[in-house]
Amino acid sequence: AAFFAKGKELAGKKVLVTAGGTIEPLDPVRYLGNRSTGRMGYAIAQQAKGRGAEVVLISGPSALPVPDGVRIVRVETARQMRDAVLREFPTADIVIKAAAVADYRPKIVAADKIKKQDGEFTLVLERNPDILYELGQKKAHQILVGFAAETQHVEDYAKAKLAKKNLDFIVANDVSEKDAGFGTETNRVKIFARDGRMWDYPLMSKSAIGGIILDHVQEQLKDDTV
Ligand code: CTP
Ligand code: CA
Repeated sequence: AAFFAKGKELAGKKVLVTAGGTIEPLDPVRYLGNRSTGRMGYAIAQQAKGRGAEVVLISGPSALPVPDGVRIVRVETARQMRDAVLREFPTADIVIKAAAVADYRPKIVAADKIKKQDGEFTLVLERNPDILYELGQKKAHQILVGFAAETQHVEDYAKAKLAKKNLDFIVANDVSEKDAGFGTETNRVKIFARDGRMWDYPLMSKSAIGGIILDHVQEQLKDDTV
């Protein structure tokens, strides 16, 4: 029978976590970005490492310390994140996509600094690839966990993403709520499973939420093996 040391429930598993926001250059000095700091993803990576997993953290720019023993891959743009994720995906057992990936990028990246002129400035954006959607299409043995950042209709929007992206779980947070979402130490989430179950958690540390997400994943791993 399999034996796992106490507290090392993820020994032998490779966990891929994405964190932080991507940044999309406009010219050599400017970029489009978002408010993600990486806290949620770094907390998940730390929890997974603590449970004995091999952890790869693919991160947009973040000032946070890399948890001990976690392999970090630093990226800037959504397309770089996609390349890094697709490289690690085939050998991953669990994928948790906490990153705030930019949906759009400037269509033209100026080689030189853009000089100001009188009047308005129009910026044309084009779509970035949806990394998580692609993973949902490619999914084989992997357990796939997505996030949904919403400011309204949290439950409906989150469930739609769960289905469309072929996920096992989605972690939904209302980023307009106080002490939850971007840049905070805490978060308030609802987790939806593909079988329709839902768990509504109170405000707690991102580290505790990371642990809860992994508990759900471990529960599913157990169901998959029996
Ligand atoms: N995601 C991704 N690639 C993108 C956009 C999002 O992999 N280009 C992932 C995020 O990492 C997250 C999930 O998809 O796990 C949901 O992201 P979110 O921004 O909430 O949803 P979108 O599908 O982008 O839809 P919208 O922003 O329009 O609500
Ligand atoms: Ca988005």
